[in-house]
Amino acid sequence: GFSWKLKDHPKLAKGKTIAMIVLDGWGEAKPNQYNCIHVAETPTMDSLKNGAPDKWRLVKAHGKAVGLPTDDDMGNSEVGHNALGAGRIYAQGAKLVDSALDTGKIYDGEGFNYIKASFESGTLHLIGLLSDGGVHSRLNQLQLLLKGASERGAKRIRVHVLTDGRDVLDGTSVAYVETLEEDLAKLRENGVDAQIASGGGRMYVTMDRYENDWEVVKRGWDAQVLGEAPYKFKSAVEAVKKLREIPNTSDQYLPPFVIVDDSGKSVGPIVDGDAVVTFNFRADRMSMVAQALEYEKFDKFDRVRFPKIRYAGMLQYDGELKLPNHYLVSPPEMERTSGEYLVHNGVRTFACSETVKFGHVTFFWNGNRSGYFNADMEEYVEIPSDSGITFNVKPKMKALQIGEKARDAILSGKFDQVRVNLPNSDMVGHTGDIDATVVACKAADEAVKMILDAIEQVGGIYVVTADHGNAEDMVKRNKKGEPLLDKNGNIQILTSHTLEPVPIAIGGPGLAAGVKFRKDVPNGGLANVAATVMNLHGFVAPDDYETTLIEVVDV
Ligand code: 3PG
Ligand code: CO
Repeated sequence: GFSWKLKDHPKLAKGKTIAMIVLDGWGEAKPNQYNCIHVAETPTMDSLKNGAPDKWRLVKAHGKAVGLPTDDDMGNSEVGHNALGAGRIYAQGAKLVDSALDTGKIYDGEGFNYIKASFESGTLHLIGLLSDGGVHSRLNQLQLLLKGASERGAKRIRVHVLTDGRDVLDGTSVAYVETLEEDLAKLRENGVDAQIASGGGRMYVTMDRYENDWEVVKRGWDAQVLGEAPYKFKSAVEAVKKLREIPNTSDQYLPPFVIVDDSGKSVGPIVDGDAVVTFNFRADRMSMVAQALEYEKFDKFDRVRFPKIRYAGMLQYDGELKLPNHYLVSPPEMERTSGEYLVHNGVRTFACSETVKFGHVTFFWNGNRSGYFNADMEEYVEIPSDSGITFNVKPKMKALQIGEKARDAILSGKFDQVRVNLPNSDMVGHTGDIDATVVACKAADEAVKMILDAIEQVGGIYVVTADHGNAEDMVKRNKKGEPLLDKNGNIQILTSHTLEPVPIAIGGPGLAAGVKFRKDVPNGGLANVAATVMNLHGFVAPDDYETTLIEVVDV
């Protein structure tokens, strides 16, 4: 029968303290002025790269290697941390939704049939991120869902859009809204009363994560449910164009707006008897709004009204909380993750990041599962992030504090694995502010140094890697790799992640002399890291895990 017990590694000892460091958004790319990691002073990461050649390598962090539909899909933190923690490659939300729509299975499922019961007398509301980014959602999936739902009886549809500019270029929101408006016009020609009802920028409206700032979700609630917002427009295209003219704003940060009819009344508040679908497949930034839509008991903000609706997520966002209860597509069944195995095998674990990435090294790492496997064996520490600012204003973020917490955990001797996520290169990279991103990369490097110093002191082992690229390339490029210019001759800033591979380095005084990276896993990706770390803890990984990246040669 099944057993959690892992086999002992034939050559590697147990009991070493391992630091598992994930730099968020830290890829490997050609050195040039748009590579903030190259421009920044990063002596620690440089020394790992320029150190022993068999203890540093690159691994894939995008596309099929992390369960995304194609190799044109950039990596992201959800799929990256899932792969790192689960040690296997799962077809991820993006892909599962594609195939459910493709086969039409989505319409046979429990979730769709649940919301369908409201189509006769109620409105179908679709809330989500409007872009082709493919990280949280995809426009073509929304388009198919609109078509499929209307063919199956939805007579009144309202879309509540969240503009992107983070996983796609800033300024593209206008075109996405125009495209959606064309689709809705076609539906209207076919007798479906379909309209955009509200909107706002993803970082300012609805899509907060890990409870950093409930005000973000409240702004969305007011617009989407109550039909109230500081800005009112007759058309969504006009709304987005006008709001983009506000100084210092961008697609990510557009204020909330509602669409109103000729009498000034909002066209699509959510009321009793309606159906609601949040059409993002990715979990972290939907979990809070899902709670607001689903939970009878709720005290995070005053909802004013709690309509009796039929609500379904595109996916179930949290398997442990069963949130939401109804969903259109089943999420990947990630089980037996490395964290769960290690806890069963006596590995005491400490995990830490600041709020904006806290769930990455806990929830995502553990297969989109919240909470501890065994609270006696694990400690998760969250350092509060700054809220209400864009991170280019304070690019050092909480790197130093994360470094200190990790250092203290290592020196305490209470843990066998100390795992952190350092968010700087990603969170600041997403702002598109190149100078601030350089500062961010330096801060992350300093935190790595603190942790490596602690590992040195206790005779431990370090594993340093990243979840996907971001800060190593801050400009949109053509197929030849040349920077693209806009119509004013300025470079087009790339706020999104990239397709680049990420580094992985191992070392520390506790690393046995013969350990090195194997040469026969040239296509290794993030999913190979879990088995590697299990080995370093003195165990052989389960058979169905992706193979280890290391070998132990006799010396
Ligand atoms: C975000 O949610 O901030 C971006 O869409 C993706 O960033 P992450 O995958 O690094 O969290
Ligand atoms: Co990111």
